[in-house]
Amino acid sequence: MIQVIRKKNYDEISKAAADLIAAAILLNPEAKVGLATGSTPVGTYAELVKKYEAGDLDFSRVTTANLDEYRGLGGDHDQSYRYFMNTNLFDHVNIDKSRTFVPDGTEEDAEKACRDYDAILEKEIGSFDIQLLGIGGDGHIGFNEPADNFCVNTQCIRLEEQTIQDNARLFFNGNLDEVPTEAYTMGIGFIMRSRKILIMATGAGKKEIVEKAFLGPVTPWVPASILQLHPNVVLAGDEAAISDAVVEKYK
Ligand code: F6R
Repeated sequence: MIQVIRKKNYDEISKAAADLIAAAILLNPEAKVGLATGSTPVGTYAELVKKYEAGDLDFSRVTTANLDEYRGLGGDHDQSYRYFMNTNLFDHVNIDKSRTFVPDGTEEDAEKACRDYDAILEKEIGSFDIQLLGIGGDGHIGFNEPADNFCVNTQCIRLEEQTIQDNARLFFNGNLDEVPTEAYTMGIGFIMRSRKILIMATGAGKKEIVEKAFLGPVTPWVPASILQLHPNVVLAGDEAAISDAVVEKYK
């Protein structure tokens, strides 16, 4: 089941997304929450911080796990996803950081890094109460890029050229040489185990891929399309990213 929430702009959809995450934590103060990085959820995290500051949200018993991390970057590197999470959310709320999990980008043995993260997900999460996702321009979720098959477990992935370029624009001031080319990412199997999935898409650049993912066939060549098979998905976006056809289909 897919519910579409479309709001006028980025700020409004960020508020709506934060409301859904806050609701999951209010319903279960020990909620397991899956988190994403990237430009899309920055506003959502800012709204969650506001709720915490207003005394409306308590993160003290929440456990989080992130989708991905660049291979080769440590958590103190300012381009790492651990650093992103600390600066955008964790440093500003009362979460116990030892209950926040991100793949270990410093583990050079890719096989070990992936199996270790799967073990953490099994032990500490089991399944998410709510999983926040963005969508890549090529339809990736986490860093599960288009491929012959949906990848079940955590994997080490070589990023697609488009993703490397997108990341250079967002995180590396356009210097392509500095952008890591590999990342560890939670597999699609674990993402699909979540009780609820909140996928966000904002900006005109996402309109076409959202249509492919939610109006087209389910195919590993558009990884996000698998969400059509999940029983509880909210697709949250702004008017630039969510077309009338998508709203119409899931009315
Ligand atoms: C981030 C992640 C990615 C992003 C996607 C969209 O942890 O897993 O799938 O959600 O690349 O990125 P933005 O939001 O920057 O457009």
